[in-house]
Amino acid sequence: MDALTLAVPSGRLFSDAVALLRRLGWLETMPDGRSLVVDGAAGFRMIITKPADVLTLVEHGAADAGITGKDILLEQERDVYELVDLAFGRCRGVVAMPPAVGEDLWGRPSLLRVATKYPRIASRYFAAQQRAVEVIELHGSVELAPRVGLADAILDVVMTGTTLRANRLVEVAEVFRSSARLVVNRVSLRTKAAAVRRIVGQMKGAEAR
Ligand code: PRP
Repeated sequence: MDALTLAVPSGRLFSDAVALLRRLGWLETMPDGRSLVVDGAAGFRMIITKPADVLTLVEHGAADAGITGKDILLEQERDVYELVDLAFGRCRGVVAMPPAVGEDLWGRPSLLRVATKYPRIASRYFAAQQRAVEVIELHGSVELAPRVGLADAILDVVMTGTTLRANRLVEVAEVFRSSARLVVNRVSLRTKAAAVRRIVGQMKGAEAR
């Protein structure tokens, strides 16, 4: 069997991804929290990287495959194959605003300022709505933007809704639904077909259970 390198994101998908790989027998030990490369069974190697970098590694072939969120796939539009919905890490991408002004802002003709970690998704979404916006890119703590006067609204992912409530924002529109996906490098799909087929088959089976 060909050696297979899989990029796994640190952050909120990490523990479910590692649990899945252990359950399927690819990883024999728990990562120690410091190593960025972990060798597993039968030539399997896991690379731990920032969520925003998984698709860069897979697209360039530094990893044969990767686990990433659909949100990141939608934002980055990379040249990789998306093969399995892993059904964990579920969240929704929403537009949210302060409640007192929410309705007015949505209907207001002037330029809406939208803070987001997803500038391309936001631009596509508001263009499709024929709504003029200024997209302001942030790298985290997006909910802060309306509170400090940086933006009128946000487009961000919601899991429990706790962060929106804590920052006095209300959802006004759902933009996308996301969960973790297995993606594969285009060349590896051909050159390492047997190994790719095996991990894809196992992950599809795991998702069905
Ligand atoms: C994500 C997201 C929200 C929060 C939503 O942030 O950007 O801030 O989680 O979760 P909730 O609906 O369960 O409250 P993350 O923890 O990834 O950190 P970040 O804000 O620094 O991006």
